Amino acid sequence: MEMNPEIGDVLLQFRDVSKSFVSSNLRKVQALANITFSLNQGEFIVIIGPSGCGKSTVLRLAAGLDKPSSGEVLYHGERIKAPERRRGLVFQSYSVFPWLTVRENIEFGLNDTNLRLKQEKVANWLDFTGLTDFADAYPKTLSGGMRQRVALARTMIVEPELLLLDEPFGALDERTRESMQVLLLKAVSNSGCSVLLVTHDIREALIIADRVFLMSAHPGRILDSFVPPSRKPRTRDHLTTPEFKSLYNEILNRFPVQVLRE
Ligand SMILES: Nc1ncnc2c1ncn2[C@@H]1O[C@H](COP(=O)(O)OP(=O)(O)O)[C@@H](O)[C@H]1O
Ligand SMILES: [Mg+2]
Repeated sequence: MEMNPEIGDVLLQFRDVSKSFVSSNLRKVQALANITFSLNQGEFIVIIGPSGCGKSTVLRLAAGLDKPSSGEVLYHGERIKAPERRRGLVFQSYSVFPWLTVRENIEFGLNDTNLRLKQEKVANWLDFTGLTDFADAYPKTLSGGMRQRVALARTMIVEPELLLLDEPFGALDERTRESMQVLLLKAVSNSGCSVLLVTHDIREALIIADRVFLMSAHPGRILDSFVPPSRKPRTRDHLTTPEFKSLYNEILNRFPVQVLRE
């Protein structure tokens, strides 16, 4: 296999991780079973799988918002105990504070004491995300795509080592989603951060990922991993090539059928 020289040591590691919850009717739900994988520095991993397969649970464990029932989640070889600034998190929604303006949202996590440097960073991110003219607007006045750009800027401005994204473009229309993918790839390549992103969109995964993990549900397991053909950056045009079509079909055929539950 071709090695990417920019990919370095192991950053995040799941070792035989299982996670169970007790549901509201006191039944035990096994969300994850025996999840094992490593994410290397500089790598972009995308997890796909049907709703309820445990994608968000994987991200919550990686963020330090939750603990495994068994197994270990390691970051730089140490057990993750709590959320940290070096691991930035973006959800599908609710990733911006509605009571703060765009500018205030973006500068929120910065604890620079140097005011000029702070203003410069905020101005750069406003510019990068095309939100300069909306700096003083409140999130509720913005479109969904603009809100996710605010979320991206406020997460990236603190220069995280690892970006954790939970269906960040899931609520957006096709066109907006595509431009967000481009923006995300640019932000990630500028910063050199590593990424773990979850989505249920196979095409999205094939365009943005270095490696794709396919999960199944009940309990959530990693069924297989795939390396999309051709080096990044990729565009929608790549999806029309025979290599992409055949990988897309292979993943689609193996994509677990959504099981309807109570
Ligand atoms: N806090 C919780 N309490 C009880 N069950 C949960 C909790 N979080 C997740 N689950 C269950 O774990 C499984 C995986 O959930 P989740 O990680 O949200 O899946 P996904 O993000 O892939 O849709 C589901 O069956 C879900 O109902
Ligand atoms: Mg989820």
